[in-house]
Amino acid sequence: DANKLAEQFQQKIDADIKIEPQDWMPDEYRKTLIRQISQHAHSEIVGMLPEGNWITRAPSLRRKAILLAKVQDEAGHGLYLYSAAETLGITRDEMYYQLHSGKAKYSSIFNYPTLTWADMGAIGWLVDGAAIMNQVPLSRCSYGPYARAMVRICKEESFHQRQGFEILLTLSKGNAAQRKMCQDAINRWWWPSLMMFGPTDNDSPHTAQSMKWKIKRFTNDELRQKFVDVCAEQVKFLGMTLPDKDLKWNEERKHYDFGPINWEEFWNVVKGNGPCNKERLATRVQAWEDGAWVREAALAYEEKKSARKYA
Ligand code: ACO
Repeated sequence: DANKLAEQFQQKIDADIKIEPQDWMPDEYRKTLIRQISQHAHSEIVGMLPEGNWITRAPSLRRKAILLAKVQDEAGHGLYLYSAAETLGITRDEMYYQLHSGKAKYSSIFNYPTLTWADMGAIGWLVDGAAIMNQVPLSRCSYGPYARAMVRICKEESFHQRQGFEILLTLSKGNAAQRKMCQDAINRWWWPSLMMFGPTDNDSPHTAQSMKWKIKRFTNDELRQKFVDVCAEQVKFLGMTLPDKDLKWNEERKHYDFGPINWEEFWNVVKGNGPCNKERLATRVQAWEDGAWVREAALAYEEKKSARKYA
């Protein structure tokens, strides 16, 4: 019966046995994964837009080639994740519909504008850095297809993080205007990056159950603290500062203390009212509509080919 199945399911999870698409799983587990993996996929796809903004304006051919490769990686991550979500019984068209109609969530971070070249550095260092902190544990998550997708994605994210840090390192050794640009980008991206980890554990409705199911291996606050601890050290190599007057090593806790996060700003962005939400969604919808002829042509070609095969 249902209780027995649920009990056996939890025993598998507790024994660290991966759950595969054909296995029995509670409806809520399936729903949670569809929610999280599709939101994650949407984030990768929308995440191409802030950086896409700088491809034509990269300061050198080398920087342009790197940025182009990075944005393409993100498209790949999105497609990978849509495939992982499809194994749970949702179609790609449904997920696209949810995104394009504004129903689906995607990471708050991608609703902020990219004002200068230094933003490419700050996104790589901080945004991709935060993404890795969150995604490395996901490669041990209980659902097989999601966990396996994370392995390659994390390797690529780690390259993205390094390329971002290197952009900032170059700027930090430049002239006064370049150093100012570097600090300004860090100032603007720091707090939104901390918000990427989601609400505090007390305000996070999904964390407790997701931890029990080993979808999440750490809570939002645990990952955020790890991220602060790493960045507080790395920023020293840049000779820059993080925009938080309360940031201070706490010898007792063996962690950095940090100032309060503006949760009002966070929820406002999540609800669709951030600086670029409308623009991002409109760009995605436009790309979908502009691509209609490609989808039609591919379908027509496929039909002709199979008609020929059976003729
Ligand atoms: N931006 C937008 N929405 C968010 C964010 C955020 N930064 N953080 C939390 N939320 C949403 C959740 O999706 C959830 O909404 P829902 O109930 O409508 O689905 C709600 O706020 C409550 O949050 P939690 O209970 O903490 O939700 P959850 O347990 O899913 O944790 C988290 C949120 C940490 C983002 C988790 O879903 C996760 O690890 N996702 C995979 C990683 C990911 O999506 N990364 C995307 C950015 S990185 C990149 O793409 C490069």
